[in-house]
Amino acid sequence: MSHPPEPPRDRLERRLRDLRVSVTDRCNFRCVYCMPRDIFGPDFEFLSRQEILSFEEIHRLARIFVGLGVQKIRLTGGEPLVRKDVETLVALLAGIPGVEDLAMTTNASLLPQKAQALKDAGLHRVTVSLDALDEEVFHAMTDTSIPVSRVLEGIQVAQEVGLRPVRINMVVKRGANDGQILKMAEHFRGSGQTLRFIEFMDVGTTNDWRLDDVVPAREIHQMIDARWPLEPVDSEYPGEVATRYRYRDGAGEIGIISSVTQPFCSTCTRARLTAQGELFTCLFGSRGHDLKSLVREGATDEEIRDRIVGIWTGRTDRYSELRSEATRDLPRVEMFRIGG
Ligand code: GTP
Ligand code: 5AD
Ligand code: SF4
Ligand code: SF4
Repeated sequence: MSHPPEPPRDRLERRLRDLRVSVTDRCNFRCVYCMPRDIFGPDFEFLSRQEILSFEEIHRLARIFVGLGVQKIRLTGGEPLVRKDVETLVALLAGIPGVEDLAMTTNASLLPQKAQALKDAGLHRVTVSLDALDEEVFHAMTDTSIPVSRVLEGIQVAQEVGLRPVRINMVVKRGANDGQILKMAEHFRGSGQTLRFIEFMDVGTTNDWRLDDVVPAREIHQMIDARWPLEPVDSEYPGEVATRYRYRDGAGEIGIISSVTQPFCSTCTRARLTAQGELFTCLFGSRGHDLKSLVREGATDEEIRDRIVGIWTGRTDRYSELRSEATRDLPRVEMFRIGG
């Protein structure tokens, strides 16, 4: 029997620590920057049941990834809570020794009815996407009939059942919701929920991204600091995506995720698995590596592990650091498939 290998490092010496698993390509929202309704209308063909990985297949792959050094697992989508019985998957993943952090990114619309079951299954925490508090702006961004109050209720219930710390992700797009920055900050100050501002990114190919639409991290920081003075907080772990600040008056923390103006590729330890079983080594990848076929064709755990090690050790991705005219027209995987 061969021994487990050393945790693999990629060509830029980065370890493999986080696995982000998209469990479905479907969503009950139609955010304009992710699944614009004119493309993702009633006729759009989402993946079939057969095409997506089963819970058992995801569990098996996750175990192999954990054997290679993964400590954090995050479930994403589409919207992970539209996958039927997703708590069953949560329970399987929570049972893998070595998983130190098990989180989910969700739009929270189904959290009021799902939070307790997720907690009972062993989920540690949730991160909720919320781009605005004003109904009109929220509706313009998400193109759903679900009201903001439902998302806020989902956040509240998550907090109450102990899916903590609850984090709130706000994608900031100039001219769309930048007018909500201070209002969001005010709402979440003192709530125990950490608001994180995300620079609008050029993920996928359908969101008509322009650099002018990005509100730089520096500007977001200045805006909030001028109203409620901030001070920096040390990062929790190397490679943390958000730059953290605390309110000097003790009302808690915020984070700013500056993937456009201050990229963090040099410490990127994230692997992404799509619902159909492809491994991507970058959010901006052109193509994934098919693990599903390997799984379904009867490969052993060792063969699958070797394949993953081969992919990771060959990794050179640093898209955000290279972003330029030259990268603009490269093919890129869509956000709803790779899960953010
Ligand atoms: P925590 O463990 O709670 O800190 O979460 P996280 O750091 O994994 O962040 P989260 O999953 O909440 O990601 C927030 C957003 O940051 C994502 O939706 C992306 O928009 C962006 N992001 C996360 N990881 C990457 C990355 O590897 N590259 C780039 N360019 N953006 C990323
Ligand atoms: N830029 C930045 N963040 C994005 N997200 C989706 N599309 C983009 C984009 N173009 C965020 C969502 C959610 C997470 C999955 O990714 O708001 O918080
Ligand atoms: Fe759905 Fe999230 Fe995409 Fe919005 S950003 S459409 S909530 S998957
Ligand atoms: Fe990692 Fe790619 Fe994001 Fe850079 S752009 S931080 S390599 S996922």
